[in-house]
Amino acid sequence: MTSSYGPSALHGRAAVVTGATRGIGRAVARALADAGARLCVSARDADEVRRTAAELGGVGLAGDVGDPGHPRALTDLCLHAFGRLDVLVNNAATNQPYGPLMDADPDLWRDAFTVNVEAPLRLVQCAWRGWMREHGGAVVNICSEGATHAGPGVGAYSTGKAALLHLTRQLAGELGPGVRVNSVSPGLVRTEMARFVWEPGEDEIAAGLPLGRIGEPADVARAVLWLCSAEAEWVTGTDLLVDGGTRVRAARTRDPHHLPGA
Ligand SMILES: NC(=O)c1ccc[n+]([C@@H]2O[C@H](COP(=O)([O-])OP(=O)(O)OC[C@H]3O[C@@H](n4cnc5c(N)ncnc54)[C@H](OP(=O)(O)O)[C@@H]3O)[C@@H](O)[C@H]2O)c1
Repeated sequence: MTSSYGPSALHGRAAVVTGATRGIGRAVARALADAGARLCVSARDADEVRRTAAELGGVGLAGDVGDPGHPRALTDLCLHAFGRLDVLVNNAATNQPYGPLMDADPDLWRDAFTVNVEAPLRLVQCAWRGWMREHGGAVVNICSEGATHAGPGVGAYSTGKAALLHLTRQLAGELGPGVRVNSVSPGLVRTEMARFVWEPGEDEIAAGLPLGRIGEPADVARAVLWLCSAEAEWVTGTDLLVDGGTRVRAARTRDPHHLPGA
């Protein structure tokens, strides 16, 4: 039996990845391209978009996913360049406004929801109308391990990610059987967005994780690639946690071979 997961898992497919110029989005775009997909990428910085598209041998559009016209322009670019749109990865997000919710500016809160929740929906709508309704496809939304916990300062971010998690399930139910919709929830990953968390305390954070290190963008990219591949053809509406054991770290002892009572 030949595997549908490997260097040609996405051969002949076309993929849109938002926020693809650095961090997790860039690793995802690279992984999809390495699996044979043609890439259409976006981010706000036009120079970075040009550089990334050129590196991937794909196309790119500079813009803010929160701008109402951007989702349509981006999916149109993919359809125009490649004649198809099989994979959509909603990765771009903001972690602002950061701080207690009682201090949150409602306009900034709305802006965050526009980028983190509304834009992914608009992109799915555009991909569906332009290609997936007729031909099928796979959508992966990048959520967060923290989406379902309360935590200091991250109220706006987590609430948006929790909404995206639910949006994923709702869309999965609505869009099958042709279109699969899943999410990946990363734990702490070494990127710019999370630098303020990992830089000051990486060793201590890593020591507290069952798998002993923080995440790298490629850890998340491999999970996204699998969900986009035919290997996951019977998987929809699920959230794949890629967190090095963050959710189960309360059970960790400093000596993993000396379990209580052993
Ligand atoms: N890093 C972590 O620990 C972690 C953990 C859980 C979940 N996540 C999620 O993983 C995803 C990627 O995060 P990351 O850590 O890789 O972030 P990152 O390193 O800051 O990269 C973010 C990417 O998105 C683009 N971007 C940001 N805002 C955008 C907007 N409004 N419109 C279009 N593009 C935009 C950025 O380029 P421009 O600035 O040029 O636009 C960049 O390409 C996000 O959904 C994040 O919530 C990350």
